[in-house]
Amino acid sequence: MQPVLAIYPGSFDPVTNGHLDLIERGAKLFERLVVAILQNTEKSPLFSLAERTEMLCEVTAPFANVEVDCFHGLLVEYARQRKAKVLLRGIRAVSDYEFELQMAMMNRKLEPGLETVFMLPAIEYSFLSSRLVREIAQLGGSVSGLVPVAIERRLRAKVI
Ligand code: PNS
Repeated sequence: MQPVLAIYPGSFDPVTNGHLDLIERGAKLFERLVVAILQNTEKSPLFSLAERTEMLCEVTAPFANVEVDCFHGLLVEYARQRKAKVLLRGIRAVSDYEFELQMAMMNRKLEPGLETVFMLPAIEYSFLSSRLVREIAQLGGSVSGLVPVAIERRLRAKVI
């Protein structure tokens, strides 16, 4: 068996403790884990691609086998370029399942050799999303315990 390169794709706007929990779990399971940030030209993110990359590099620094990268276009095409065998996605609750199943099946149709692996974050992050974190921060609420401290600081600076 060859070492497995897994890709953990997402928007990460911003990275949350839920993402970090999944990165930690994935880093234990796969030889190499690439956290791949989608460069989405349609959405207007709170943090630029450069900022999201910087933040992810900072919080994943303790994991020697984790790399941060960005991609645009089809995820399966990026996975092919990187010679990845696995796509890692988190499922927080049943409500995530339908969309994740649809994406996983479509990605399988496009690239049958690529496996999607679902992992569950710790229960305390089962209600956590970047969208809610952005909303809370923008409305002046506390995001303590929801994102790493370094990200909390960045969020505060961004919304004042
Ligand atoms: O953090 P998100 O927004 O849930 O991540 C969604 C992501 C980046 C995994 C998804 O939008 C994606 O893979 N986009 C790339 C374009 C693509 O391949 N689309 C077809 C998916 S079946």
